[in-house]
Amino acid sequence: MIALATTLRARVEKLKGLILSGGRGTRLRPITHTSAKQLVPVANKPVLFYGIEAMAAAGIEEVGIIIAPETGDEIREAAGDGSRFGIKIEYIVQDDPLGLAHAVLTAEPFLGDSSFVMYLGDNLLQGGIDQLVDEFRTGGRDAMILLTEVEDPENYGVAELGPDGGIIRLVEKPSDPQSNLALVGVYMFTSQIHAAAKAIEPSPRGELEITDAIQYIVDGGGRVEPHIVEGWWKDTGRLDDMLEANRLILGALTPRVEGELIDSQVEGPVVIEPGAKLERATVRGPAIIGSGTHLIDCYVGPYSAIAEDCVIERAEIEHSILLSGSIVRDMPGRMESSLLGRNVIVTQDDRQPRAYRLMLGDNSSVGLP
Ligand code: G1P
Repeated sequence: MIALATTLRARVEKLKGLILSGGRGTRLRPITHTSAKQLVPVANKPVLFYGIEAMAAAGIEEVGIIIAPETGDEIREAAGDGSRFGIKIEYIVQDDPLGLAHAVLTAEPFLGDSSFVMYLGDNLLQGGIDQLVDEFRTGGRDAMILLTEVEDPENYGVAELGPDGGIIRLVEKPSDPQSNLALVGVYMFTSQIHAAAKAIEPSPRGELEITDAIQYIVDGGGRVEPHIVEGWWKDTGRLDDMLEANRLILGALTPRVEGELIDSQVEGPVVIEPGAKLERATVRGPAIIGSGTHLIDCYVGPYSAIAEDCVIERAEIEHSILLSGSIVRDMPGRMESSLLGRNVIVTQDDRQPRAYRLMLGDNSSVGLP
């Protein structure tokens, strides 16, 4: 008996990481027509990098990134071999987006018999995963899942817990949710998940659901431990979630002004990167202004992230994300809650003040009436 207990609680020695960065990003079009959703920046850093950094901080040294054929090259180029994060990255192509459990099976040659942490590349988790990973490493669990309360559980995998806090049932996107506890896109698995992923059938949306694979382990008497996350969690798959994630991350910025200010002012927590130039501009934080960006006679308001090499001239912008190379010029009204892709040009013709909300894909050029 003692020997068995020791085996069961054996420490997890081999722990790899798997980040899912494939998929088509249909909910963030038009930005994702030309670019991977995981590379859209939050506070001027690609969403994907937060996941990679969380893995590195948790002491995981080998990370596989699942990529789609359409956007894979761009992701490879952005994240590289992992050395800039202090880890080793291997890329694994998933030819079709056939579900999260299918992604796990695609990664089986990389994962081998290792236990692993799986992280959805468009997810953001405040506070990282260090503590949870440490706990999982102590052994004795077949899987660990993270849960958080949401207002729209029908859009997620949903967990029903018993009075003792154990899992009764996990259902993917239930039409009649039995709780408001959604599965967060961070999971910890032992190699048992491969057999489970092979045993399940595709869901009504035609995907091999990781939720069903975990339920399979529960049904087989496995120990799947749920954890309610402390702090916030965001799936950045839609515009409003992306803006909200941007707001939350910017809210925790450490202010730093390294660019050039000419007759300009910054108020509140603001980061002005080196090489940015402000002329008669006001930036009210939380906000970040990327290097090479030029602000002239303009106002940039709270919760704005302006990437590198943008120009904002005679315009007002608030609660928005601009990707690199975008130009907003001569806008008497205020642009708010907007997302502009790379190299977008926005101007307004008739000079009537009004408020705008825009979501424009890369290389768009718009002269507003
Ligand atoms: C996926 C999972 C779902 C989970 C969600 C978290 O959903 O299938 O169980 O709650 O991620 O972001 P999808 O983004 O594929 O709709």
